[in-house]
Amino acid sequence: MDDLSWQIINPDGKNRVVVTKELPGQRWLKILKAADCRMEVSTTTHVLTADEIHAAVGNRCDGAIGQLTEVWDAPLFKALKKAGGRVYSNYAVGFNNVDIDAATRYGIPVGNTPGVLTETTAEMAVALTFAAARRLGEAERFQRRGQYTGWLPSLFMGELLFGKTLGIIGAGRIGAAYARMMVAGHHMNLVYFDIQPNQELEDYIRAYAAFLKQQGQPPVTCQRIDQIDDLLERADVISIHTVLDETTHHLINASRLARMQENAILINTSRGPVIDEAALVAHCQTHPNFRAGLDVFEDEPAMKPGLVDLENVVIVPHIASATSWTRQGMATLSAANLAAILQGYPVWPNADITPFLSNNAPMAAPSILNAEELGLPYLNA
Ligand code: DGY
Repeated sequence: MDDLSWQIINPDGKNRVVVTKELPGQRWLKILKAADCRMEVSTTTHVLTADEIHAAVGNRCDGAIGQLTEVWDAPLFKALKKAGGRVYSNYAVGFNNVDIDAATRYGIPVGNTPGVLTETTAEMAVALTFAAARRLGEAERFQRRGQYTGWLPSLFMGELLFGKTLGIIGAGRIGAAYARMMVAGHHMNLVYFDIQPNQELEDYIRAYAAFLKQQGQPPVTCQRIDQIDDLLERADVISIHTVLDETTHHLINASRLARMQENAILINTSRGPVIDEAALVAHCQTHPNFRAGLDVFEDEPAMKPGLVDLENVVIVPHIASATSWTRQGMATLSAANLAAILQGYPVWPNADITPFLSNNAPMAAPSILNAEELGLPYLNA
């Protein structure tokens, strides 16, 4: 483990802000500086322990930006409140690591960073889908090992996805963006499961189907499915885009894996524990034509025994949102959440946060998850 070290930026700032990892770009620093913040930024790469975060909060901390790898629970919010804390922002859109109810009890607004990860994460889901379908990991390892001795008619045959059925679990922003990419790019028919219908997505696919028909091509279809099990049986590719909570923990388990087609492709860019990873390992071991593409893991950064040896699984280290634009955007939004609350600004009322990326950012907090519970005012749209 590397040593714990902190970089102090704008040491004379009035508001002491703890940032548990270095963030990309410069804009977030300017935002916090303009809000009269002294930033104490952890420059270590290891995941800070609860004790280390408690020590960093100390006796005086006005706000904090934390990471999805840290547990922000009731004792930590209690400590933050006691230290004079007025706001916390996750440097992530997901917030399963944050006890929002506890933060609300202590009167601390919790921010997140929606809207800048959508296409970036969806593109990674697309990349993993094709990497799994066309066996890119296996083929690349084969090539690098110098095993390619000549073209063969059956070398690394994979799955053609054009015109097949795509199943998405969770049709929120990222799921819908991924669905649009796969349907429009590869004429896949969509089945989706979500507690809420996504009318915008359905309309988009219907309009695209009409366009294809006009071109004399078979139209694509879109159907919302009531039962996950039906979706699993029908889809050639299944991609998970749910939040992680008690209702989605191990949503994909051994019995659900058994319902999938023997050559199905399962993609996860949401959160690892949505899949029972040990069950997935066992399934992939006994179903060599089944493929998976994983950006996230149940006990991240560890992997369940056996996963690393599976040729039919493509694995990457939770990098779905890792583009400069997105990661800088996340930094901007988390800093803007802190700066706005510390300056007494209201909360932004719209899902579209792009104005915060412009030079004329609104005087508001882009995304506060417990704004309603805390009775925070919203900016008049
Ligand atoms: C998030 O923001 O929740 C993502 O998982 C980061 O990649």
